[in-house]
Amino acid sequence: PSADIALVGLGVMGENLALNLHRQGFKVAGFDLDERKRDSFAQRTGATAPRSLQELVASLATPRVLLLMVPAGAPVDEVLAGLRPLLAAGDIVIDGGNTRYTDTQRRIAELEGSGILYVGAGVSGGEEGALRGPAIMPGGDAQAWPRIRPILQAIAARADDGVPCCDWIGPAASGHFVKMVHNGIEYADMQTICEAYFLMQQLLGMQPRQMAEVFAGWGRGELSSYLVDITADILARVDEETGRPLVDLIADTAEQKGTGKWASQAALDLGVTAPTIADAVFARTVSAVREQRVAASGVLAGPQASFTGDATAFVEQVRQALLAAKVCAYAQGFQLMAAADQEFGWQLPFGTIAGLWRAGCIIRAKLLEDIRRAYARDAALPNLLVDEHFAQVLARCHQSLRDVVAAAARHGVAVPAFMSALAYYDSYRSARLPANLLQAQRDYFGAHTYQRLDRPGKFHTKWAQD
Ligand code: 6PG
Repeated sequence: PSADIALVGLGVMGENLALNLHRQGFKVAGFDLDERKRDSFAQRTGATAPRSLQELVASLATPRVLLLMVPAGAPVDEVLAGLRPLLAAGDIVIDGGNTRYTDTQRRIAELEGSGILYVGAGVSGGEEGALRGPAIMPGGDAQAWPRIRPILQAIAARADDGVPCCDWIGPAASGHFVKMVHNGIEYADMQTICEAYFLMQQLLGMQPRQMAEVFAGWGRGELSSYLVDITADILARVDEETGRPLVDLIADTAEQKGTGKWASQAALDLGVTAPTIADAVFARTVSAVREQRVAASGVLAGPQASFTGDATAFVEQVRQALLAAKVCAYAQGFQLMAAADQEFGWQLPFGTIAGLWRAGCIIRAKLLEDIRRAYARDAALPNLLVDEHFAQVLARCHQSLRDVVAAAARHGVAVPAFMSALAYYDSYRSARLPANLLQAQRDYFGAHTYQRLDRPGKFHTKWAQD
């Protein structure tokens, strides 16, 4: 037995990770229930693809390391059930799928006493990332880290300063939680970019080709990021058959696999304000009821979009609005991690997390280096917005976000993520909110009591007149 690592699940992600491992000099064994996948894996990678889990486990050097790349949910439980009797204390199982963190918590509890070291690792970067270097967020049994560290860091992407985009996140399900937050931010990033596109299209009548240039330009500045770059590429693509911009031919109905929804649910569960992430999920759900929208578009009143301002100036305002909204969405994501950190006592390394998102993952962006620095300045930052650098960015960009949201409202263009980012910013910077009245309402109808600003204690008023 001499293989360094086993890959269970030989879909594109699993196969590409195996190729990556192979390139880094690791001896890989692979397994999939599907014989064709095993064969294609053996052919493409030159690695062994045993026909059963028994043979797979027997081919591994001990303590064994197994990386599961199977679809999240029941398949992970099935593989674990199959592996459990074959593994010994000290063996390491890494779940590299987009697993819901609560499932990882449950599996850790189920494996207690087995001596198997369980790691839930978020892996981001899609198929290309798996092959060329993803960002990896492993968390779980810390005893596993010294053994898997050289393997995972070797295949991970590297940031500009050479630091691998893989580091230990923390105990229990923290790795999968952090990946879930990554995806929540990914949803918000994607939606705000879509809204920027929508505004330029609806208010300025810009064509995809022109917008491709705008996004390419933005990608060279402070908005530099993978998602802005691919947006420029997408907008430039022409459909070969029709000669029209391909983006114009794609149905405007978004799908989702659930990670953004989980992030929003976790925010509600933990009492965290993450409206821009949630609105990015709702933007997908409302897009999905296309038939209803088409019908409603002939029934419901709205203003005529008739923008008359300076187009070049407006494009620059949209750029600044996008930056401001992006900072607000990241702030919400980091608040979500901070709340989980409090709840579960994980001691999450926020600066390290921002650092390992700088390359390899879908949300990789220049901004993440600034976030890394913000947490290096103050590891206990109450909110990214109040960091000196980001407070300045917002000071520079909030007016554009207002102007863009106002223009969208005036002309009836739906930009839910921009709007909620602005509301988040304004709520967070308000020393006073109307919750005094809300507390009075609660006390009025439910005797829920309220606190006062001028003295300590809980109070109840008999509001109703008999
Ligand atoms: C990543 C991506 C990846 C996947 C999303 C897509 O980090 O590499 O987030 O995990 O593409 O799960 O999610 P939706 O299908 O929900 O858009």
